[in-house]
Amino acid sequence: ITDEKASGASKKKALPFAFAFDIDGVLLHVAKPIPGASETLTYLQQHNIPFILLTNGGGKHEAERVADLSARLGVSLSTDNFVQSHTPFQELARLGGGSFGSVDAADAQSQEENHNGSLRHKNILVTGSDPAKSRLIAEQYGFRSVITPADILAAHPSIFPFEPLLTERYAATARPLPTPNPKIDAIFVFNDPRDWALDSQLILDLLLSEGGVLGTYSAKNGRKDLEGHGWQSDGQPRLFFSNPDLFWSASYDLPRFGQGAFQGALAGVWAEITGGKASLKSTTIGKPYALTYAYAERVLGAHRAALLKSGGGDNTKKETVEAELQHEMQEAEGGEKAATGGLDGNPLERVYMVGDNPESDIRGANEYRSPAGTDWTSVLVRTGVWSAERGEPKHTPRVVVDDVKAAVGWALEREG
Ligand code: G3P
Ligand code: MG
Repeated sequence: ITDEKASGASKKKALPFAFAFDIDGVLLHVAKPIPGASETLTYLQQHNIPFILLTNGGGKHEAERVADLSARLGVSLSTDNFVQSHTPFQELARLGGGSFGSVDAADAQSQEENHNGSLRHKNILVTGSDPAKSRLIAEQYGFRSVITPADILAAHPSIFPFEPLLTERYAATARPLPTPNPKIDAIFVFNDPRDWALDSQLILDLLLSEGGVLGTYSAKNGRKDLEGHGWQSDGQPRLFFSNPDLFWSASYDLPRFGQGAFQGALAGVWAEITGGKASLKSTTIGKPYALTYAYAERVLGAHRAALLKSGGGDNTKKETVEAELQHEMQEAEGGEKAATGGLDGNPLERVYMVGDNPESDIRGANEYRSPAGTDWTSVLVRTGVWSAERGEPKHTPRVVVDDVKAAVGWALEREG
């Protein structure tokens, strides 16, 4: 990155491009910054070049994760330029919301139509790396009746016949169930579960239940031969996953299992139980799905507009403007205006998506069709899931570079 290349950006004119950075395998290996990451983000901030962080990670509320990332990377980030896997779930808690904005959930690899109707006051089961934390996030999103596996285990100890793995944590965080056998309307996997045995047992109990009522069983659920003969899956709990990552790049030399591995295990047990006669219906969001890219584009558009309206450095003023624009963005719901963050006449023409995973970051950027005509350019780095020894990437990036610093250098060179 050279000064003159980036310096044009600092003259508060609306640059036609911005960046979206994946986190794991691009900026960090778990908690350790990847060389060049901090320097690169700092440079972009100093030169008023807009960027967002777009991760399939999760498990903490956005505010907590952003504070953690700012400390680790030595860059001041805010929730206004940060989207993680489960961030769009908050749309489903909005009164009257019930859908994911203007992008149909079908783009989110959903096998069911995009129901409307807010889940705000419905009973939902949440799980993740720490279900008690997932519950706090869900409540901060607006969900008002959130149940965790620990609550169910405390109320029905024999529901899981083995010695539970996380006894202390479950005992410390369990809350009473709303009723002894509640009807559960939706199940959310907020991030990578740790207790696959208990989580799978409970999720499959509910998917095989009569209308989502805990402790009941119905042999009809999911049976393809029954669909269209007057039997509907209405009333069955909807199952949401926050991302499909089979692998991700952690601290170990080889990629590690992500939430996609849990989904594969769950689908395998479902197939064994139902003899392959029943479809496992679920909605998965996160990269590579269009729903998440549309959501990210709206966030990036509003952030870019606020950055330029406030002249960059003044954080307080920027945040006020950003809050107004985020509201405007929500109203615009993914239309032309939202994608440009209200910068009429200065549309965002290109987003450089810098990622390490061909199946999520690269595929998502390659396949996303922006309602505002913004071109998402995929840039694959060598510091994460993919490496040349794994063969050609399944989804071809616009370019392959060593790391995030080289990615930004290539893009700025290209922007001239
Ligand atoms: O759980 C994190 C993993 O799924 C990938 O995160 O930042 O590479 O999208 P990221
Ligand atoms: Mg990654």
